[in-house]
Amino acid sequence: MSDRPPRAAASPAPTAAGPTRQGLEFLGAVAGGLVHEIRNPLSTMNVTLQLLEEEFPEGAADERSARTRRRIRALTREVKRLEEILDDFLRYAGIRRLDLARADLNRVLEEVTAFLLPECTRAGVELSFYPDRDLPIMRLDERLVKQAVLNLMLNAVQAMEPMAPEEGRRPPLQLIVRTRLEGERARIDVIDTGPGIAPALTERIFDVYYSGRKGGSGLGLPTARRIAEEHGGSLRCYSEPGKGSDFVLWLPLEGPAPRPEGAP
Ligand SMILES: Nc1ncnc2c1ncn2[C@@H]1O[C@H](COP(=O)(O)OP(=O)(O)OP(=O)(O)O)[C@@H](O)[C@H]1O
Ligand SMILES: [Mg+2]
Repeated sequence: MSDRPPRAAASPAPTAAGPTRQGLEFLGAVAGGLVHEIRNPLSTMNVTLQLLEEEFPEGAADERSARTRRRIRALTREVKRLEEILDDFLRYAGIRRLDLARADLNRVLEEVTAFLLPECTRAGVELSFYPDRDLPIMRLDERLVKQAVLNLMLNAVQAMEPMAPEEGRRPPLQLIVRTRLEGERARIDVIDTGPGIAPALTERIFDVYYSGRKGGSGLGLPTARRIAEEHGGSLRCYSEPGKGSDFVLWLPLEGPAPRPEGAP
């Protein structure tokens, strides 16, 4: 009898065309499990650091206690950062099975735009929504489509915000969300009048962990693209530096094509 661990039966061999869908799902599950395993000791570290900090109260007179306290604080910050990295990863890797149901895409987007309106106002961005009333009821995962569009809208606001919007500025900073029926697909445009994106970057921005923003985790766009692709759709960026960007999300009206029995 071999004492080697059994080979993971669920792990199919990669093909020349790249890993299979099943293979990716398997890797995602393994990585997700690993993330959970790492989170437990991290939260123990967090609690222990808090207890340690209490032993060195603020305003301690001697320099040594003050220094120790600063070091505990620094460690706590790093532990928090690690927790955030894991959370972001789970957010990206966590998308698995779609929960498909009949839904009115315009109503879904009305909810997303209403949710983001206060944030736009705060950032000095004018938000408009132009729904195509000819869109039929579609088959989609409402929560995920909302997440994808929200990621695109947040990026637009974050890109425009530093453009120092003054009161009555002309032209105003604009964020436009629009739907259109294109054959068997719905097309969603998320358009901004922000700084735009250099041609060399319009594909790189979709890479996992690519971020051009301080504090960005670089998962918003790859997550949105994965959501589009899991629906059988796609996401592309059209941009003109100095003018703005248009992120186009296509979703088939009937959702992803059914997978043939036994297919990867
Ligand atoms: N509308 C936009 N205008 C200009 N640049 C953009 C726009 N959308 C995305 N980008 C660029 O693409 C980068 C990647 O975006 P992505 O959403 O993947 O990550 P992030 O916003 O940096 O972090 P996260 O979304 O994970 O918090 C952004 O950091 C930004 O540099
Ligand atoms: Mg983002």
